[in-house]
Amino acid sequence: MYKKWSSYFQLPELLEYTRSYMLTEEMRELILQHMLINHKEKILEVGCGTGYLSRYLVKGRKNLSVTAIDLDEDFLQAADKLARQEGIDSITFLRADASSLPFETNSFDHVVSHTFLTSTQNPERALQEMHRVVRPGGSISSITAMSVNPTIVESGIYPETCSFIHRYRILFEKVWTMYQRTNSIANYINALDSSQVPRMFVKEGLKEISLFPIGYAFSFSDASLTADKRKKYITLSYQEERKKFEHYVHLGVWKDFLSEDEIDEYRILLQKKATFLWEHLEDNSIFEWNGRANIMVTGRVT
Ligand SMILES: C[S@@+](CC[C@H](N)C(=O)[O-])C[C@H]1O[C@@H](n2cnc3c(N)ncnc32)[C@H](O)[C@@H]1O
Repeated sequence: MYKKWSSYFQLPELLEYTRSYMLTEEMRELILQHMLINHKEKILEVGCGTGYLSRYLVKGRKNLSVTAIDLDEDFLQAADKLARQEGIDSITFLRADASSLPFETNSFDHVVSHTFLTSTQNPERALQEMHRVVRPGGSISSITAMSVNPTIVESGIYPETCSFIHRYRILFEKVWTMYQRTNSIANYINALDSSQVPRMFVKEGLKEISLFPIGYAFSFSDASLTADKRKKYITLSYQEERKKFEHYVHLGVWKDFLSEDEIDEYRILLQKKATFLWEHLEDNSIFEWNGRANIMVTGRVT
């Protein structure tokens, strides 16, 4: 059964915001090149969420028209609104299931997806459907996040006066281990690991399969961002982590990883850290970053 992503982990606003640092301006042309896009082309985005990738791809490109599908009505509503706000009329958002796409065979030049194949119930079926709707000579691309170590995901240098950060990090590692080991997202919706995507493309009979790594990092102390943007990021990432953590607590899977006291302590330290970051934003005394590695896999349909 499909569980709404927006009520499960990421609210439309959080999803949208995190994409603005995952898909940067500098990467746009490279991503388009890697998708093997050149002429006037019809693109399908599968599992579009709030539509960030579709808007990102069509920006400044009159030659592209995009159909973007998702099952989550709240994401689609946000996607429609955001596209309208940006004056974009070359994207059509539709509610549809990736396992049974409502399109004719060979009706698109390219299919693309972003953090979708690793977050859907039946990725093999979705890939078969993507393959069916792309014309020979077209391409299929998938961008997904590699699993990473918590010290890479979130790291930084804090002033010595910040006495709680050491303890926070010890707990964060335990919490992260809980996320990884119980892999609630995976159990919940049977997601696959991103390292399996290239093999799936081979199995699906796609040709000229290529990989393109896309790394990104966000720094709270990045002086090139406005203080408002940094504050918004701190608030949203606190909300997101809290929501995710409470979800795991609710599932009851924490018992193998944390004591009851540590659950409460993590809640307190999480809040303390967000407040500390917020209060010391202008000091230039914290250097914190948050980064991941994504992998883009592209295959040609023959
Ligand atoms: C991690 S989110 C990624 C959203 C968006 N691509 C992004 O990166 O911002 C995964 C998305 O896949 C959608 N999804 C999962 N299974 C689906 C299916 N069978 N058909 C259509 N959408 C699906 C979810 O509703 C959710 O919006």
